[in-house]
Amino acid sequence: MSITAPIRRMTVPQIRARKGGDPIVSLTSYHAHTAAIVDKYADFILVGDSLGMVMHGMDSTIGVPLDLMIMHGRAVVRGTKRALVVVDMPFGTYEESPNVAFRNAAKIMKETGCGAVKLEGGARMAETIHFLTERGIPVMAHIGLTPQSSHVMGGFKTQGRNEDTWAAHINDAVAVAEAGAFAMVVEGVVEPLADKITAAVDIPTIGIGASAQCDGQILVLEDMLGLNPWVPKFVKKYGDLGPAIEQAVSDYADEVKSRSFPGEDNIYR
Ligand code: KIV
Repeated sequence: MSITAPIRRMTVPQIRARKGGDPIVSLTSYHAHTAAIVDKYADFILVGDSLGMVMHGMDSTIGVPLDLMIMHGRAVVRGTKRALVVVDMPFGTYEESPNVAFRNAAKIMKETGCGAVKLEGGARMAETIHFLTERGIPVMAHIGLTPQSSHVMGGFKTQGRNEDTWAAHINDAVAVAEAGAFAMVVEGVVEPLADKITAAVDIPTIGIGASAQCDGQILVLEDMLGLNPWVPKFVKKYGDLGPAIEQAVSDYADEVKSRSFPGEDNIYR
């Protein structure tokens, strides 16, 4: 008989219930060992399709294939015990129809063991979000600046600078909430619009480049650790690991070159 209580993962209803309550802490992660660290502090971990750029050197998220998301999703689930793991649906795997979206979302959930999927889009994705949630797939929505639509948007531009566009963004937020999303990422929108969105919906808003008044925040882990050479202006760096890694690699290279690197004798002793 076990004498320790099993650690339970954060559930979708628990995240949903945090609307207006304790701020939700979340970060991205793409691999087992960083996920294990993040797991101690985050309510949910997003396996974001930003991994295409951060891990694989792509120019955008457009080229990220489903299998790559599944591979990284599986690693993050393996490395974690308590956070809810949410996996992004990559471009081209859900927009065509609710049926296509269901097939691919079910594949992600079965093959990774994650607890929910995320997809981009507001009112235009409401029917799909409803279809998925009715069939047992929890959906986190993503509105505002939606990187998979960057070609249509003309780049990664802050949304809502023109007040005339606010009604459409608020309509997106209300539509995904009414369709059954349990939370939504609100990315790259001006602060007063993010605040209006947060007030307009009864599910948590997770801000990134949005507003401190959102119900939670998310950042790309490598951005806040100082591992990416370029980061958006709104990202605060909580670490500066790039130079630390470079120093370690340079020390190692010096030891190898000067033959002061420990030999086999030392390694196996
Ligand atoms: O792909 C990603 O990392 C994301 C976050 C920026 C929210 O969608």
